[in-house]
Amino acid sequence: MAGPVIVCEDLHIRLGTGAVAVHVLRGIDLEIAPGESLSLVGPSGSGKSTLLMALAGLERPTSGRIRINGTDITGLGEDALARLRGASIGIVFQSFHLIPSMTALENVAVPLELAGAADAFERAKAELHAVGLGDRIEHYPAELSGGEQQRVAIARALSPNPAILLADEPSGNLDAGNGAMIADLLFKANAERGMTLVLVTHDAALAARAARAVRLNSGRVVEEEVVLTEEDEAALAQGAEDIRLGRIATDDSVKAILDRYRETPAS
Ligand SMILES: Nc1ncnc2c1ncn2[C@@H]1O[C@H](COP(=O)(O)OP(=O)(O)O)[C@@H](O)[C@H]1O
Ligand SMILES: [Mg+2]
Repeated sequence: MAGPVIVCEDLHIRLGTGAVAVHVLRGIDLEIAPGESLSLVGPSGSGKSTLLMALAGLERPTSGRIRINGTDITGLGEDALARLRGASIGIVFQSFHLIPSMTALENVAVPLELAGAADAFERAKAELHAVGLGDRIEHYPAELSGGEQQRVAIARALSPNPAILLADEPSGNLDAGNGAMIADLLFKANAERGMTLVLVTHDAALAARAARAVRLNSGRVVEEEVVLTEEDEAALAQGAEDIRLGRIATDDSVKAILDRYRETPAS
């Protein structure tokens, strides 16, 4: 049985120096199973983005460990981290982060080709078709709406088929309709490709689409909640032992969820 794809052990991060130093993460312990979907919620400033950046190897822990697919990334150099990201981690930011001087197609294909893909432009085209932008591939970011730019960013994140998809407020700059479309694409990648999804959001409805919600406050995990679908609730009410919650892939993690659920007194 595969182990967790992401593990944080007593993760601490201090940012800034001297008088402006902030102890942003204060001992995070977290395990995420392959194919799981998890939302990170909590007030502004609670450390959600810092945690996500640490998982991507873009922010260095002050102490503690992060394991990705069993590899301790805490001691890796910049080149090794960049290779790991290229192969295993797709990232979507609130502000899209597209390169303005490159077309939609180039924004997706160039990183793929840099990562060594031989058929980068073909794959990029297919990913852009899959997000509904087949007729926009030659457009520059400035010629695309916010929702379209975010779909390009999603195509770019998905194109290497990463095991892990990290998204930081991906619909934060979009209207409700475009935000829902972006969320659909992320959860579709989770469901159909088995990508582990970690989603930072303060949209409660969006957070509830993930199989598990983890709440941060002042750099600590203060609450973990298993989000059950109506079918899950019905199955639990009938005492079913074999339900599968969302995309949680391992029997042990399902058991852990059931144990937690059953310990929670009915309100
Ligand atoms: N480079 C930095 N130097 C000092 N403090 C920082 C730095 N970056 C972020 N912070 C602080 O860390 C805290 C958590 O930030 P962040 O992870 O962005 O929170 P969230 O995403 O939950 O809003 C905030 O108080 C923020 O001001
Ligand atoms: Mg943030």
